[in-house]
Amino acid sequence: MLNEKFVQPMLTEGSLKGKVILITGGGTGLGKSMGKYFAQLGADLIIASRKLDVLENTADEIEKETGSKVLPVQCDVTNYDQVENLLKQSFEKFGKVNSLVNNAAGNFISPTERLSHRAFDIIVNIVLKGTYYSTLAFGKYWIKERQSASVLNIVTTYAWTGSAYVVPSAVAKAGVLALTRSLAVEWAKYGIRFNAIAPGLFPTKGAWERLLPGNISEKFNPVKKVPVGRTGEHQELANLAAYLVSDFSSFINGEVVTIDGGEWLKGAGQFNMLDSIPNELWDEIEKAVRNVKGS
Ligand code: HXC
Ligand code: NAP
Repeated sequence: MLNEKFVQPMLTEGSLKGKVILITGGGTGLGKSMGKYFAQLGADLIIASRKLDVLENTADEIEKETGSKVLPVQCDVTNYDQVENLLKQSFEKFGKVNSLVNNAAGNFISPTERLSHRAFDIIVNIVLKGTYYSTLAFGKYWIKERQSASVLNIVTTYAWTGSAYVVPSAVAKAGVLALTRSLAVEWAKYGIRFNAIAPGLFPTKGAWERLLPGNISEKFNPVKKVPVGRTGEHQELANLAAYLVSDFSSFINGEVVTIDGGEWLKGAGQFNMLDSIPNELWDEIEKAVRNVKGS
């Protein structure tokens, strides 16, 4: 049920002109979609992840399509030296970085008792350590150089609910959310804003192959959990991200914005399962309830 309005760009042309935005994990999936839209709005980009060939292809595609400059930098965010090299290359090329989008992540479904400690480490290292390494490196630089900036962290709705079968990711995303809210207060005095986005279901190869492998989505159709009855369009997420890195959102700090069609709340509300009661049954139910007398 694709409605054209879901894929409409939201901000006016040039809204991010003059900005330089770094996106970790910017070569694929949601990182690529956000980057493309930022570039369409006039921003120059740095995209960073482990696979340089993937980054170079994406950089090429975005540059040709938008005319903005895109610097691809190989960087494993779990390695602080590589993050410092990313910082050096970014400032050498552009002289500034206005926003950091911590989007890189790793995840897969598994019963927790099947995980080795190394499997747990790898996810927490990418998601939590990767986010605080980038934040610390860029934050120290911005503070020293007296440059204002914004950080946008991509979390998940289970950052606050927790979730079975993706426990390392849940633990790490909860840490990222705590980092967002903590530094939003501590570093506001330096002109550095922090916000987060908690996306619901947005089809990407990286997430779908690891979280809904094989025919699992036929057995457990995840869309059934979404009140609005669909997955998100990448443009919808890109619209929100562009707003949060733009100056239009200068008074928004320490916020986590959920974009999930109501999915997590549907799982939370105690009587939400009554959704499955057909309309014609409600007359009977109402009668039964009205007939209750006394305590
Ligand atoms: C159990 C597993 C496993 C699995 C790997 N391991 N896959 N254990 N079940 N399915 C174990 C390995 O045996 C090893 O432990 C340890 O994890 C490290 O594995 P490697 O393959 O060496 O690591 P690496 O090659 O770096 O791969 C990292 C990765 C991979 C995270 C496992 O999936 C990756 O690169 N992902 C990046 C992209 C990604 O995940 N995108 C999805 C984000 S989606 P031992 O003990 O054997 O050494 C997302 C959405 C959230 O976050 C919400 C959606 C609604
Ligand atoms: P994706 O395409 O797999 O993106 C993950 C990116 O992280 C990849 O580009 C990967 O690139 C990079 N990455 C992984 N390990 C890295 C490391 N050690 N160093 C640097 N980069 C690394 O998946 P996605 O769905 O777009 O996810 C993007 C973000 O959205 C993630 O934070 C995810 O948790 C979040 N999210 C997604 C959904 C969804 O429905 N898709 C829902 C909720 C939240 P390399 O392999 O080249 O390193």
